[in-house]
Order: sequence, then structure tokens, then C-alpha cells
Amino acid sequence: MSEAHPGKTRRLAGRRILISGAASGIGRATAQLFAAEGAALALLDRNADGLAQVAAETGGHVFQVDITDDDAVASAAEQGAAAMGGIDGVVNAAGIALRGSVKDVDIAEWRRVIDVNLTGSYSVVRHCLPWLAKEASASIVNISSGQGLLPNIPNRTAYAASKGGLVNLTRALAAELAPSIRVNSVCPGLVNTPLIAGVPGNPNAYALRRIAEPMEVAQAVLFMISTDSSYVTGAALAVDGGRSFH
Ligand SMILES: NC(=O)c1ccc[n+]([C@@H]2O[C@H](COP(=O)([O-])OP(=O)(O)OC[C@H]3O[C@@H](n4cnc5c(N)ncnc54)[C@H](O)[C@@H]3O)[C@@H](O)[C@H]2O)c1
Repeated sequence: MSEAHPGKTRRLAGRRILISGAASGIGRATAQLFAAEGAALALLDRNADGLAQVAAETGGHVFQVDITDDDAVASAAEQGAAAMGGIDGVVNAAGIALRGSVKDVDIAEWRRVIDVNLTGSYSVVRHCLPWLAKEASASIVNISSGQGLLPNIPNRTAYAASKGGLVNLTRALAAELAPSIRVNSVCPGLVNTPLIAGVPGNPNAYALRRIAEPMEVAQAVLFMISTDSSYVTGAALAVDGGRSFH
């Protein structure tokens, strides 16, 4: 995937989409691709510098928010909807990694990873619902992880629990919000972003023998957010180079 944002089909023309974690990695690639496909964007992150960069790249409305702050998320959703004239798509890409054995990860660290990766995503969805509910065909995409499908790598227990929770949160929301709002998760394997800096990835764990670039995950998110996936809800799409079956 050599182009930074290869969208040329304007598949998201007229769409108004809120993305969390948009300042870096998968969220940022998604924002670049969605802007190229014609969407208006509300971009949330706690990282102000990264937000300024993605705003310049995409023309999106940016909100510096920690998604564990429920009131701040509510306010950003309201302001984002006002700026865009509504919200008809949500991508939850904000997340943190946590490595460590059960013996070493204390309860505060456990709570933090659940709070960001699971509760934060719930908060974003919940505060966007009043606008999503007004749309005929709204779509939510949660970025889970291969660890949410096949948690077989040691010392990732809290992270895997948060991401497994996100897969099931997605399914429960899909059931509750049907038929007007579709909800799916995308489950990447190792992706070349700052999140995995210093982690020795093993390309041989992947049938495709390499880790992913962020834009390859963004393309899957585009499919799920667009009407191309109009009959897909409650799905967990592995974008993991074949790791979870390999
Ligand atoms: N990189 C991988 O190998 C990989 C694999 C599977 C799943 N994921 C998931 O993909 C998502 C994106 O990860 P990435 O690799 O792009 O990482 P990243 O670190 O490049 O980007 C994550 C972004 O989320 C933001 N963020 C984190 N906590 C936040 C909070 N409390 N409030 C607001 N913003 C917050 C960060 O500031 C950052 O901009 C995460 O949910 C991650 O768990 C990543």
C-alpha cells in the first residue's frame, strides 16, 4: 500500500463520521482515507500535537479529549455533531497496549486498560447515539484486536480481556441497535504504529509473513463504515494476515 490515502471513489461523500484515537496509527490512517473518500470528520484524541497534524491532513474538526472522561466525550460528540450537521458513523480506534504477567499487572493497571479500551468505546458510542439514531443507515466500527479473538500470546491478559470485551460489546450493540444502526468490529494483528514500538513482532506468526500497515486496516474500516457492508452487523473481521486461523 504505497499511497498515503488512496481513496478516489468518494464512497463517503455526505457522511459525517466521528473517530476516536485519530491522532496516530490506525485512527489517523482511517481519518486520511475517510477524508479522501469525501467524509466530514470529528476527530477525538488526547494528543494535541497529533490532532493538529491530522486536522491539517484532513480538514477534520478536532477535539482534545481523554475518552475515559465521560463528560468530555459527551461535549465533544455534541460539538462534533454541531460542526458537521449530525453524526452517521463512529470509529472507536483509541486504545492502549498493556504487557505484563498476571503476577505483575496490578489492579490499577488492569482498570486503566479496561477503562480506555472498553469503557471509553462504550462512552463514545453512547454519546453519539442521539445523532446516529436520527439516520436511516448509521454504522459503528470498533477497533478490537486479534487478541480479542485468539488470546494465545502470554502476558497480554488484561489487554486481551479488554479487546474480547469489545468484540462482545459490538455484538450486543448490533443486536440492540438493529435495524437502523450497524455495529461491527475490526480485529487487526500486529500493525506498524507507535503502539507496538519496541515490541519484537514475529512475522512467521502470520500466514502472510509480515505485519500490517495502518492503511490496510483503514481499508477494512472503510468497508464496514460504508454501505458496501450494508448486510453486515455484529461481525468481527480479522485483518490479521491469517494469524487467528494460522
Ligand atoms: N498496532 C497494533 O499492532 C494493533 C493491533 C491490534 C489492535 N490495535 C488497536 O488499534 C487501535 C489503534 O492503535 P494504534 O496501533 O493505531 O495505536 P496508536 O498508539 O498509534 O494510536 C492510538 C491513539 O489513541 C489515542 N488514545 C489512547 N488512549 C486515549 C484516551 N484515553 N483518550 C483519547 N485518546 C487516546 C492515542 O493518543 C493515539 O493517538 C487501538 O485500539 C489498538 O488497541 C492495534
